[in-house]
Amino acid sequence: MDIDSIKREFPIFDNKVQNNDLVYLDSANSSQKPRVVIDRIYDFYSKEFSNVGRSVHYLAVAATNLYENTRTSVQRYINAKDKNEIVFTKGATEAINLVANTFGQKYLEEGDEVLLTELEHHSNYVPWHFLRNSKKIKIEFAEINEAGEITIEAIKNKITNKTKIISVTHLSNVTGAILPIKEIVELAHSKNIPVLVDGCQGAPHLKLDMQELDCDFYAISGHKMYGPTGIGVLYAKKKWLDDLPPYQGGGGMINEVKKTGISYGELPNKYEAGTMATAQVIAFNESIKFMEKVGIENIEKHEKELLDYGLDILGKNNSIKIVGNPINKGGVISFTIEGVHPHDIATILDEDGVAIRAGHHCCQILHEKLKLPATARASFGIYNTKDDIDQLSQSIENCKKIFNI
Ligand code: ALA
Repeated sequence: MDIDSIKREFPIFDNKVQNNDLVYLDSANSSQKPRVVIDRIYDFYSKEFSNVGRSVHYLAVAATNLYENTRTSVQRYINAKDKNEIVFTKGATEAINLVANTFGQKYLEEGDEVLLTELEHHSNYVPWHFLRNSKKIKIEFAEINEAGEITIEAIKNKITNKTKIISVTHLSNVTGAILPIKEIVELAHSKNIPVLVDGCQGAPHLKLDMQELDCDFYAISGHKMYGPTGIGVLYAKKKWLDDLPPYQGGGGMINEVKKTGISYGELPNKYEAGTMATAQVIAFNESIKFMEKVGIENIEKHEKELLDYGLDILGKNNSIKIVGNPINKGGVISFTIEGVHPHDIATILDEDGVAIRAGHHCCQILHEKLKLPATARASFGIYNTKDDIDQLSQSIENCKKIFNI
């Protein structure tokens, strides 16, 4: 694969960062955008703009078709059975909130349990916490092992006859652990428990097949998939979308509104209230097409090569402690350097144009478990090269010198 030519499709890399070439190692946080996505937003607003699903004029019909084309592309990309199983949201966070809110409203009662894992980022904890307050439910956490993984046994250990839903990440944004989702779903379904998968880190990096995975819900973040901010997807099996109540009320999601009552629209309108992030949805189609053109298998392979290379180089550095050692791991390397706060590492690396993230990565429960206040994290995307990792390693050396390590 010609990564240099793929990288040239991302205009951000034409710019210097503090007089350095940009080494962007923060894709788990948000990916950079290819020109096709940026141009699509400009073109839509400058030549094709209209609201969707309402008016019958030329622009409105054309925009509605473009909007629905993205739904078809997402369906194809994740191999969902039905186009109406794709609901657009403002992000994965909203997708998870949608499920927690509607499922919680209909199915959760005092004393019921929601099973999460210690790997979850806040988007897959806080929405359930709201139910702990409002419905007096309990939240259980499947525990990580030494390697920073969640095994099927860890899930098994926490399932009780009170477990009403399991909500787990596909790929940890800290340890990189890829969870055995298919096994978790099989186990859960054998006990009639639905499963939500937080695909924030899964969808940008792993091949997805909803029919094969068989999960009930899958949350996707557009901005981590080379797409715009403000766009996400909730995949949900049709039976759930038919069954659960609406999430937000407003225009577009209704069928008939009378003083005496309201009936709701058909899928997917039922869950898309108000004017949606139209331009972002339409541009997200270009992200999907971009990923299809590169090929998810190629993305997985490339990122695995980067991961192996990175683990090898950083693993040889005695001052660096890599956090987690999962067997099945995505392109994320979190690390610490004894005697240097991760924020200082990130600040010093930034002077060389190396962009990493430092902090708790929205995973305070995990960091508490690891007894670490924070970690530094390098995460990969399709535009990264081994040179980027060499630069990371070199900049870490510079950082160590500053701290006399
Ligand atoms: N966006 C968060 C991250 O950086 C969760 O991983």
